[in-house]
Amino acid sequence: MENRQAIKAENLVKTFGKGDSMVEVINGASFQVNKGELVALIAPSGAGKTTLLMMIGCVLEPTSGSIWLGDEKVYENRWLTKETRKIRREKIGFIFQAHYLIPFLTILDNITLVPQTNGISKEESEKNAIALLRYFDIEDKAKSMPSSLSGGQNQRAAIARALANRPQIILADEPTAALDIKRSVDVVKMLKKIAVDQDVAVIMVTHDEAMLPLCDRILKIEDKKVVSHSVSENKETGIL
Ligand SMILES: Nc1ncnc2c1ncn2[C@@H]1O[C@H](COP(=O)(O)OP(=O)(O)OP(=O)(O)O)[C@@H](O)[C@H]1O
Ligand SMILES: [Mg+2]
Repeated sequence: MENRQAIKAENLVKTFGKGDSMVEVINGASFQVNKGELVALIAPSGAGKTTLLMMIGCVLEPTSGSIWLGDEKVYENRWLTKETRKIRREKIGFIFQAHYLIPFLTILDNITLVPQTNGISKEESEKNAIALLRYFDIEDKAKSMPSSLSGGQNQRAAIARALANRPQIILADEPTAALDIKRSVDVVKMLKKIAVDQDVAVIMVTHDEAMLPLCDRILKIEDKKVVSHSVSENKETGIL
């Protein structure tokens, strides 16, 4: 049978600092996310959600444990590749609370930047970018600067940018925090559609309980570990 695993973490540990000032944020987190799945990552502020996302995204080095991205084991007590940047560029799309579009580039140039860095021609990367903008219903904004778009339009452009390198994994850190409820629902539904249409795994950090029913599953950081809950279980027991 085809392996559906997109992300697997085993016994992940992350501590910051040394000696008396050492903080243990994650201790023994094991979980898996499959292709096509939209998973919410929840926990109180300071519990380690961003830390966990940045380790999965090969931005922050864990203290110990193992990480697989797709079939590739990328970390076992150390990075197994010198090229974490390459893994990041090729496999992962990031979306943040603020859109972080580059203010002095047009929407189109923002989206084609990484693919062109990865060696895709200008022509092909622009063709792909226009298709993404059409998918997000902001094709008419291709030549606009981010400052002239609304919050929701910029966030959709940022999602288009995250998709432009055809990632297998999308890591979104509170992507709807700056949006009203209607826009938030639109963005989360869009993430689910992307997960299914493009067979990617999406982990979305959220503090917004209204978004949880739109997700397939909930991962919660509890006692520095990661526990998986079903969405219906959340409704019954109010795990937030
Ligand atoms: N570079 C760092 N050095 C020291 N401590 C850090 C560092 N980064 C994060 N921490 C600590 O790790 C803990 C988890 O932080 P993290 O940002 O992952 O929380 P979070 O769950 O994303 O919170 P929020 O919901 O507020 O975004 C916090 O106690 C934070 O102070
Ligand atoms: Mg955070």
